[in-house]
Amino acid sequence: TLTQNESQQFLIIGHRGASGYAPEHTLESYQLATEMGADYLEIDLQQTKDGELIAMHDESLERTTNGKGLVKSYTLKELQQLDAGSWFNEKFPNKAHENYIGLTVPTLREVFERFGTSVNYYIETKSPDDYKHMEQKLLKLVDEYQLVDNTSNNKVIIQSFSQKSLEAVHEICPDIPLIQLVQYNENAIISQERITEIKKYAIGIGVNYKSVTESFAQQVRQAGLELHPYTVNSEDEILDLIDIGATGIFTDYIDIVPSEYKL
Ligand code: G3P
Ligand code: MG
Repeated sequence: TLTQNESQQFLIIGHRGASGYAPEHTLESYQLATEMGADYLEIDLQQTKDGELIAMHDESLERTTNGKGLVKSYTLKELQQLDAGSWFNEKFPNKAHENYIGLTVPTLREVFERFGTSVNYYIETKSPDDYKHMEQKLLKLVDEYQLVDNTSNNKVIIQSFSQKSLEAVHEICPDIPLIQLVQYNENAIISQERITEIKKYAIGIGVNYKSVTESFAQQVRQAGLELHPYTVNSEDEILDLIDIGATGIFTDYIDIVPSEYKL
């Protein structure tokens, strides 16, 4: 479970960092998210051809780098030659630049190396079934950087659409709070059975915010589960979701979260 104060605190999750203002999943974006007051950095994990964990959302390179093809077809060395910044806007010049801390594709190790225990990490195992041992590698790094200790002072939440991946994490390290991502579209409903099942291993549900009706929120909250809608980029929608029971929010624009929700 989240540490006591966190379970009362409304969690502001910097979606892919401060991805409304800086190129997503770069050290730049994560740094900006911490400066803007995000409680957690959301990191999507993919794996390179040579088995390294990197922060990237898409399985292919075209949208967020000048590369072509699948992430898993390239070694880390090849990926780190790519420019992961200038696609976003001209403010972020090609690759590393003395004014920026990093506009290439970061490894999870580089993220932990830079931020250590100074921030919290909300890490998504992306398409884990495609990769070998993603969970073991992730937990080995979490352990190496001492991000989870048994005083339940956890710096890490792990999220996934894959229940199998979360159960693999739970098997190795039961102390890490887990969030089950569910893929519903507009105004879907979630069965009470599914909620009861999720409650067995996870502390909450991450869901497309358009699916979150009052009854959906009520069901989740009555089960004692955290409710983290994604990805909400307007203040009104954030406030509406808080009103019906959201206990955290994924947003690209951390600054729009009303200050009373920023501890
Ligand atoms: O991980 C929460 C949310 O980010 C899931 O959607 O596609 O943005 O990773 P996506
Ligand atoms: Mg994600």
